Amino acid sequence: MHLRRTLATIALLATAAAPAGPPVPAPANATLANATLSDTTPAVATPAKPALPPSVLKARAELGHRLFYDADLSADGSMSCATCHEQRHAFSDGNPTHPGVTDEPAIRNVPTLGNVGDLHTLTWIDQHITTLEQQFYIPVMGHHPVEMGMSGTAELERRIAKSPCYRTLFRRAFPKTAGRIDTPSIAAAIASFERTLITRDSPWDAPGHSLATATPAQQRGDTLFFGKARCGTCHTPPLFTDQKFYTIDPRHPARIRTPSLRNIAVTGPWLHDGTAPTPEAAIEAHHTLPPLTPSETSDIAAFLSLLTDTRFLTSPAFSLPPESCDP
Ligand code: HEC
Ligand code: HEC
Repeated sequence: MHLRRTLATIALLATAAAPAGPPVPAPANATLANATLSDTTPAVATPAKPALPPSVLKARAELGHRLFYDADLSADGSMSCATCHEQRHAFSDGNPTHPGVTDEPAIRNVPTLGNVGDLHTLTWIDQHITTLEQQFYIPVMGHHPVEMGMSGTAELERRIAKSPCYRTLFRRAFPKTAGRIDTPSIAAAIASFERTLITRDSPWDAPGHSLATATPAQQRGDTLFFGKARCGTCHTPPLFTDQKFYTIDPRHPARIRTPSLRNIAVTGPWLHDGTAPTPEAAIEAHHTLPPLTPSETSDIAAFLSLLTDTRFLTSPAFSLPPESCDP
């Protein structure tokens, strides 16, 4: 029964999604930071990944892809990871915040998952969550706030193990444990899928950063971004984040991790609490920077639209998986 419930929930996403583009097979172990980019910024060190055969990694990411879209991971079967992390929003969701299954108000804005495999710490604020496997437990079983509201691992494992499709997929993805279905394996599979969420095909990634064909406003924005506005010192390419924590408004002293600006045009509303309704408002919320004129701010926002990777937003490799399991 779980699949029907799942698909009913995610059909909403499917109808809202943009038309699908050509499939983009993303290698499961590739990361943006170790990719060769025309940029001269030194690549960030990539954490060592377990040395798994490519076929197993692929099977694991495929399994994780299905689990990511499965509403059986939530207490009442109403919510999958993709309910809050929607592909067309670069895996954020278009709302200031998104309440979980209990409708208790949420606290923070849903962040993009683009290039999430390259991040050393996860969430906007916490400096102690360092792996995707660890992070998985927060939405599924966390209480502050309740998101998917599962009471424990036993119920989760029972639901997944009921499905013949999952039993086959687990055997492929976890050959060493003969496909044992337990919560750490569920977390590992979803983490494998998340590591394939690589976005590096924006116009800015083209040779010359597409500046020759950019509008005059975008060209001025580029000069400001890497020059006098100093944006690039924290929003550092290729990830467009230095992954460090700052206070940008002395009235709100909490230190926030610099968010990536990739796909920023579709990840609004912006800031950790979703209080900026436009990219310009998010830029103006930086009170620790030299002041910019309104036209400079709008030039920078125009430049930022060069960071939208349409392939990432539409690739079937990341979208709602087919209903039939066909393993
Ligand atoms: C109810 C909405 C909701 C659901 C459902 C949800 N998330 Fe999230 N997710 C969020 C919010 C909000 C944050 C930011 C939390 C924070 O910073 O405190 C987040 C953060 C994350 C992050 C950290 C990203 C970063 O940039 O540090 C990852 C990874 C993630 N979620 C994966 C998942 C996975 C996997 C699932 C399903 C098992 C899931 N989420 C389900 C709302 C949701
Ligand atoms: C000192 C480091 C630093 C500098 C310099 C900086 N930012 Fe930020 N930026 C941050 C942090 C930290 C946040 C998150 C703040 C929050 O959510 O409250 C942020 C948030 C943003 C956001 C919202 C992103 C989102 O996903 O919600 C945008 C857009 C942005 N910055 C653009 C810029 C631009 C453009 C410049 C240059 C004018 C700039 N930033 C300079 C650290 C910096």
